[in-house]
Amino acid sequence: MTGQQVVIIGGSEGIGLAVAKAARGLGARVLAVARTEAKLQAAREAVSGLEIGVADINETASIEKVFAGLSSVDHVYIAAGSTKIGGPLEHSLEDFRHRFDERLWGSLDVVRAAHHLVRPGGSFTFSGGLASDRPAKGAWVSGIATMATEQLARVLAIELAPLRFNSVAPGYTDTPMWNHIFPEIGSQALDEVTKKHLVPRMVTADEVAQAVLLLMQNEAITGETIHVDCGARLV
Ligand SMILES: NC(=O)c1ccc[n+]([C@@H]2O[C@H](COP(=O)([O-])OP(=O)(O)OC[C@H]3O[C@@H](n4cnc5c(N)ncnc54)[C@H](OP(=O)(O)O)[C@@H]3O)[C@@H](O)[C@H]2O)c1
Repeated sequence: MTGQQVVIIGGSEGIGLAVAKAARGLGARVLAVARTEAKLQAAREAVSGLEIGVADINETASIEKVFAGLSSVDHVYIAAGSTKIGGPLEHSLEDFRHRFDERLWGSLDVVRAAHHLVRPGGSFTFSGGLASDRPAKGAWVSGIATMATEQLARVLAIELAPLRFNSVAPGYTDTPMWNHIFPEIGSQALDEVTKKHLVPRMVTADEVAQAVLLLMQNEAITGETIHVDCGARLV
């Protein structure tokens, strides 16, 4: 990937940071974008040569500004996306709606801001998830949002060819995301669940990153969703 320009929306920690490290390792120029300056600075210290930018996927103008600063782009990975745990009759509907909008319309906003910079054969990779195929109680909004985003990749692959659009659907992956969801114990909350998977453990961020890098590099793949879930869909 020497000389290629990769942009990661949500690149300061978790899977996005793992993608940044892997792409830098393959010689790409990498711009990691997220909301929190301090986390971006820490990422820059951890990954040699990483470029950073502050933006929020929920704010169209800030995403447009990111791409206005670039002359060309080869690959975009969108990691930004959050969830809200709780049943469909709990909490405010607005809070759930926000999680759906952020993942689906946020991804489309990035495409609209970036598509003219991406060369034919370049790629966008969206964030799907295990909840598309294995809906879980209390995670219903993730279930519809990740499924919608996986489908967004398929329809855009047709609409905007020869640009390529794919998604990666992680299973339970050990990242800081779980510290936001379960502040007391983080990803340990999932020990019992992941023991039952075919590969009885959590996925690592590096393992998901390997799938993202494959989708960037293999120009024959478009409209695809790669599952990296330790076999969680099959149990
Ligand atoms: N971890 C899992 O088990 C799992 C499973 C299925 C799907 N996923 C999906 O995979 C993606 C990556 O997950 P992860 O576990 O790596 O998440 P993470 O550890 O929480 O990292 C999220 C990254 O995105 C940034 N971000 C969050 N909201 C943003 C926004 N509105 N605008 C711009 N940047 C934003 C964060 O930085 P700031 O907070 O500073 O902005 C951070 O860099 C997410 O979409 C997640 O839903 C994860």
